[in-house]
Amino acid sequence: MTKATEIKPDIFWVGVVDWAVRDFHGYVTPNGTTYNNYLILDDEVTLLDTVKYDFAETGIANIKNLVEPNRIRHIVINHIENDHMSALDRLMELAPGARIYITDRGRKGMERFFDTSGWNVHVVKTGDELKTGKYTLQFIETPMLHWPDSMMTYVKEAKLLVSQDAFGQHMASTARFDDEFTACASHAELEDAVVDYYANILMPFGRLIKSKIKQIQDLGLEIDMIAPDHGVIWRKEPDRVIEMYLNMAEGKTNLRVAVIYDTMWHSTEIMSQPIVQGIMDEGVDCKVIKLRATPMSTAIKEFWKSRGLLVGSPTLNNEVFPSVAEFTTHLRGLRPTDRIAGAFGSYGWGGGAVKWLYQEFQNMKLEAIEPGVQVQYRPSPEDKDTCYNFGRDFAKRVKEYHRKFQ
Ligand code: FEO
Repeated sequence: MTKATEIKPDIFWVGVVDWAVRDFHGYVTPNGTTYNNYLILDDEVTLLDTVKYDFAETGIANIKNLVEPNRIRHIVINHIENDHMSALDRLMELAPGARIYITDRGRKGMERFFDTSGWNVHVVKTGDELKTGKYTLQFIETPMLHWPDSMMTYVKEAKLLVSQDAFGQHMASTARFDDEFTACASHAELEDAVVDYYANILMPFGRLIKSKIKQIQDLGLEIDMIAPDHGVIWRKEPDRVIEMYLNMAEGKTNLRVAVIYDTMWHSTEIMSQPIVQGIMDEGVDCKVIKLRATPMSTAIKEFWKSRGLLVGSPTLNNEVFPSVAEFTTHLRGLRPTDRIAGAFGSYGWGGGAVKWLYQEFQNMKLEAIEPGVQVQYRPSPEDKDTCYNFGRDFAKRVKEYHRKFQ
């Protein structure tokens, strides 16, 4: 059990730490995660979000240490995904008089999860407010960050933005705040967790993120703390995580090539080596990922941290290799932009994987450097030279393309 933590006067983190989760709906979470929710002990006791159902009793025990749940007057549901709302029915058993504040899309979704016929539900939209005593909560709809129902809650007098999934990280830790985390780990580790989360969950919504952050800035909200629903709370550097999000949404990334491949009898792997050397000899950094040796979410993150993508695949039964198809399927769903791509691979007789990959790049509307490079059976010394030159040429194009973002 983790004790409640006061994050602002009379506002408490009452969430849970999930140290053990490694598969978060298919997304590998090597560092676990937290399900954060917050309790405001004001004249009218208010709970912001719940926790994942498996941890309902732990979350309720955290609340009970501060107040009897039947004293909760208001429950704000910022997001209906299971990791945040699935303990709501249990909460409503203990606080049947509570009124729920939720967006209209949230209400419709909530009715698909629970029998809400006896619940007091109040639909809110951007700008609506709830006065709890000394605090005023202002609601801001943030559709598609992360689901259509999503919203954030700003606690005016505390200058606190409860941001739900946005600005979160899948990071189980004893640290509740960014400065506590970086005191014993590092900024780099925390920022990597932010990028990992953004790449795997929020990549498709960059344009929306930009406009939503602008809208929040235009509202003139003073923010001195951001409390997301996963990971550490931004107490010391809320501006830094906003800046990171804006940079990622604007397509900023590293002058680097992610070489992401799989291999059957090592021919595609052997091809990757001179390709990487060629890229390095052009002065461009490289990250090499073998798909069956790497969690998919790591491959996606490394793609996102790189301006260029080279995908390598052998041809199997005239098709692309299955693990490579799995990677591109994930990537296509994340609607990547602002990256340049190419492909390479080996084949025995018919070929087809490299052509298939270029079709995928076209489907994703990624700029692609064609025609890539293919080798039959085993790379010869001449083939290795071709791969080296391909790597060099690709790196030159990546440098050129990268200038657009500087
Ligand atoms: Fe953490 Fe979209 O749920």
